Amino acid sequence: MLVETQPSLTPDQFNRIAKIVHDDSGIVLTEAKRGLLMARLNRRLRVLGLAEYGAYCTLLDGPDGSEERRKMLSAVTTNVTAFFREAHHFESLASQVLPPLIETARKGGRVRLWSAACSSGEEAYSIAMTVLEAFPDVARYDLLILATDIDPLMVEKAETGIYSEASLQGLDPTRLRTHFSPSGNSYEIRASLRNIMRFAELNLHQDWPFAAKFDVIFCRNVVIYFDGNARRLLWQRFSNQLHPGGHLFIGHSERLDGSASAMFRLAGPTHYIATTPESAR
Ligand SMILES: C[S@@+](CC[C@H](N)C(=O)[O-])C[C@H]1O[C@@H](n2cnc3c(N)ncnc32)[C@H](O)[C@@H]1O
Repeated sequence: MLVETQPSLTPDQFNRIAKIVHDDSGIVLTEAKRGLLMARLNRRLRVLGLAEYGAYCTLLDGPDGSEERRKMLSAVTTNVTAFFREAHHFESLASQVLPPLIETARKGGRVRLWSAACSSGEEAYSIAMTVLEAFPDVARYDLLILATDIDPLMVEKAETGIYSEASLQGLDPTRLRTHFSPSGNSYEIRASLRNIMRFAELNLHQDWPFAAKFDVIFCRNVVIYFDGNARRLLWQRFSNQLHPGGHLFIGHSERLDGSASAMFRLAGPTHYIATTPESAR
């Protein structure tokens, strides 16, 4: 009988890969994640036709390394998400955050919202549905929602905007009818939502290409994978990237820490308002 053996990571190889992942994304892989890492990367090794991790590490360090590093991050990231996850954020968005922003847009101002680790798009489309329900003629004004993620496969899926029935199970049926059209066994986001969205690949750990500031940032359930330094740097950068009075929503198990308490004030559960940014002091 033929017994197929799976490639196994030596401690050295694990440390090498964990360092690359940390340097490239801020994600911390502790020894406890080794089994998970192997389960995910063994698939990459099979696709590449590599029998063991020594060859994979050589590939990562070689001329095609940067492309494989991106693919490796795709394999390593956790993309769990859902429409209207942590529903209270969308209630606050509708009741507290959007009314003054809609006023601004109606007066000719520019309004920008950012889903900063959007995964397959459910969070960004939940923001867009909330906006469209509160502001049905939004398309006539300068309001846009940017959806970004480090994982190019997720950004592509988000932009495609096609979701299985299973992923839409918890969604209010009125919302399903209003914002999606049936497409085979799946549902497709309607143009009214797509038109106010933009998608891009963006690594929160690298430079951001923004000339202007945001009114609202959702960055939920991503900093839990980062170390303290990467997390605290991100709070600082969000503070600089938000207008004073702008809103930051973070994940239910995340907290603003370090000097962030001087840059934001609490507005609700895991909902913060930017005070004066560091750069303007
Ligand atoms: C668990 S999902 C959260 C999705 C959504 N924000 C939510 O709360 O439902 C985490 C996402 O963070 C992304 N991510 C991880 N590290 C990142 C980084 N350095 N820059 C941008 N996105 C990152 C992953 O690709 C993944 O899609």
